[in-house]
Amino acid sequence: METVTASAPGRVNLIGEHIDYNDGWVLPFAIGERTTVRISLRDDTKFRFTSAQKKDVIEIDHSNLAPSKRRSDWSDYIAGTIWALEVDQGLNVHIDGQVPLGAGLSSSAALECAVALGLDRIFSMAKPRTDLARLAQRAENEYVGMPCGIMDQSVSLMATSGHALLIDCVTLETRQIPLDLTREGLELLIIDTNIHHALVDGGYRERRERCAAALRQLGMRSMRELDEAQLELFGNSLDGISYRRVRHAVTEIARVHQSVTLLEKGDFVGLGKLLSESHLSLKNDYEVSCPELDLAVEVSESMGALGARMVGGGFGGSAIALTPEEKIDQIKMEVVQAYAQSNFPKPRFFTALPSEGARIESDG
Ligand code: GLA
Repeated sequence: METVTASAPGRVNLIGEHIDYNDGWVLPFAIGERTTVRISLRDDTKFRFTSAQKKDVIEIDHSNLAPSKRRSDWSDYIAGTIWALEVDQGLNVHIDGQVPLGAGLSSSAALECAVALGLDRIFSMAKPRTDLARLAQRAENEYVGMPCGIMDQSVSLMATSGHALLIDCVTLETRQIPLDLTREGLELLIIDTNIHHALVDGGYRERRERCAAALRQLGMRSMRELDEAQLELFGNSLDGISYRRVRHAVTEIARVHQSVTLLEKGDFVGLGKLLSESHLSLKNDYEVSCPELDLAVEVSESMGALGARMVGGGFGGSAIALTPEEKIDQIKMEVVQAYAQSNFPKPRFFTALPSEGARIESDG
């Protein structure tokens, strides 16, 4: 096999935010927008990357494929995945990325996962999807330098259409949870604030480190060992900020489990309430929201969404609103108006239905 085409989707996270690296459970789903990569073998040791969205052509020799030599541009996600999968044969890689950039919809994981699956196929590695997810995460952590958790890569590789994916972020065991929004007359509106804060160096790493330090102080190995009642009993040794960060983690883990129960009962009103509670916790306890996200959530809720919250790393990116179909247009209009009144950038809108994870599009 000389050429392989693979694709992988972006994601939204229904609930379980800033929980993957806190060893909890998350409930994301794959969106319809995908990144496609065409990989073909070369008979030298060069990697040549092109993109339908970029003019530049990037060439890297295998001898220069190390995290210390990264270029700090779009090619890092491809080079990093090739590095993580320890490929040393030259390749041409052409990408076509249809996942909106900077919207918090995991365009980077989509690219890494499409490359990982394509490499797995072309070199007949036959690795389990969980291994590919961990390798794609390694590319992002060690090559790109973003200390992300395992959620985005796992859902991009393991999602199935019509389902949200419950992921145990320690074992990577998964459960497909049916999510038929259309049957309920609902849509998940994605509101992209068009505010793009780089997470690589900022608040994301700080939240992650603070949670790890708080656990050490509590003498615990994982947030999953803790519940809210225990936190109240033992948490007084923590400083105020750490206490609130941990409170977000333990209450959000509980909300993920409650959400699964509600989805299994078809209780979307209850689910909406949990989404809104999740937002308040991210805003007040975890402090990763921003005025643009808060306004999107507030307007959606006041205009009839069942619930709404910021998604992804935060500090910008997108919010989601679980919305009866007939209210979508009005919510969009009101959000646009409210943003204009606040002098915020013009928001973008998408709707998302649970879609299929990474797949091989063609061999040869
Ligand atoms: C980013 C990271 C994920 C996850 C979310 C927050 O999207 O890539 O691993 O931590 O933030 O839930």
